[in-house]
Amino acid sequence: MKYKELIDKMTLEEKASLCVGGDYWHSKAIERLDIPSITMSDGPHGLRVQKTKADNLGINESEISTCFPASSTIGNSWNKETAYMLGNTLGEEAAYEDVDIVLGPAINIKRTPLCGRNFEYFSEDPYLTGVLAREYVKGLQTNGVGACVKHFAANNQENRRRTINAVVDERTLREIYLKAFEKIVKEAKPWSIMSAYNKLNGTYCNENKELMNILRKEWEFNGLVITDWGAENDRVSGLIAGNEIEMPGGRGNGVEEIIEAVKNKKVSEEYLNEVVSRILEYAFKGAERETLKEYNRQEHHNIARKLAEDSIVLLKNDEDILPIKNKKVAVIGDMAKRPRYQGAGSSTINPYKLTNLLDCLKEQGIECSYAQGYERIESENDVTLREEAIDVAKNSELVILCVGLTENFESEGMDRFTLDIPSNQNKLIEEICKVNKKVVIVLSNGSPILMPWKDDVQAIITGYLGGEAGAEAMVNCLTGKVNPSGKLAETYPLSLEDTPCYKYYPGTEVSVEYKESIYVGYRYYDKI
Ligand code: BGC
Repeated sequence: MKYKELIDKMTLEEKASLCVGGDYWHSKAIERLDIPSITMSDGPHGLRVQKTKADNLGINESEISTCFPASSTIGNSWNKETAYMLGNTLGEEAAYEDVDIVLGPAINIKRTPLCGRNFEYFSEDPYLTGVLAREYVKGLQTNGVGACVKHFAANNQENRRRTINAVVDERTLREIYLKAFEKIVKEAKPWSIMSAYNKLNGTYCNENKELMNILRKEWEFNGLVITDWGAENDRVSGLIAGNEIEMPGGRGNGVEEIIEAVKNKKVSEEYLNEVVSRILEYAFKGAERETLKEYNRQEHHNIARKLAEDSIVLLKNDEDILPIKNKKVAVIGDMAKRPRYQGAGSSTINPYKLTNLLDCLKEQGIECSYAQGYERIESENDVTLREEAIDVAKNSELVILCVGLTENFESEGMDRFTLDIPSNQNKLIEEICKVNKKVVIVLSNGSPILMPWKDDVQAIITGYLGGEAGAEAMVNCLTGKVNPSGKLAETYPLSLEDTPCYKYYPGTEVSVEYKESIYVGYRYYDKI
């Protein structure tokens, strides 16, 4: 055991205390023995460092950091360097903020396109997910900052995520839902893994010995298992299964329960010593890193733009309408002025510099007439906004129409119930197409949508959720400075009924059975 000497000096109480977080973002420190705490922060596509009020829903303000494109966007790059660059740049910001472990990447497989958190995940394919996330982890960890790969495992829906029992057969589990974790553990050696909220085949993931044995024994993972925030249900069972740290701190009686379990021999002190030794290893590893004095914020913003450029997908381009040749265009849509650039929940970033499409087009010397076109949340005002937009479109050579999923459609904690974008936006597109034949649709969406108007418009391009510089990247693609060479990393169905687990999602109150087995995403569509 690496830290035997130090562990010999520790009391049972001190050992147990290390296995439960100190507060929202830190593990406990033991000053008497110079044991530092581990500082953690969300993740995954920017830092959410909270110095005052903490939460796991992205409600309270966090420090300013670069908002990079979401992982679903990066998935479209199919590019290892892009993913590495994301991890590496994020790692620099973590080193600046004294963050030891970044809570990312999130790598759950997109079982249903309805999962509210799909924007945080890379793809429906485990191999693509595994390669991109491996590069992210490598890039991050070169900075002396650890990754926490999440959420282990089968956390594929937000609907009842804290209690649902995912029932998954072994082949499906290993080939689809564990594959990317396996790849990353073996090839990138992440510092930590986050155990998911849900149950897997009857047992909460954090207490699931079968799951943890695959991680520890088969894949020889030597890092830390940290619970998702509040995913601890029975501290001692979690410890026995292989969990090191319960997060966040300040809830329950985990420390007392561990002490009791050692005293009554449910857990041996030798076993606890091994757990503590691993915690010490990463606490010291974090403390070894020097604080980065500064980083160039504008440079990181430019990197965020480059990552977004690498990930933009051109879905349709009739008669080569793009790149735009016009010097005068109509720009329609609320999202042109107020970009939809990130999802909601624990990944919410307080961005350094948020740019919008309308201003970026103007900066490139393009004259724009603008109309809002729709409200973010449908309202009576939509009729007036639509009429104004139709007037603007009528008198223009070309219309750039910015639409997509609004904030309340893509959020941690809840799933979507439809693949449609809001109906006021669909109606707007329909009406605009009646008065102008040259319509370019610019989409902001972190997951697949239905496009009933796809045959009526000339071009469709998506930037997914492009981060703080996504609008600059999009304008560079629209004007031809950058080739939009991304490819979708997930399938777009023609209807919700066509999706692989349509009949088996979201399950009952208690459980969800993965009856579609390995036929997830394109594997399903290729088969039928
Ligand atoms: C999320 C995690 C996140 C944690 C801390 C949880 O609710 O599921 O992904 O890292 O909160 O904010």
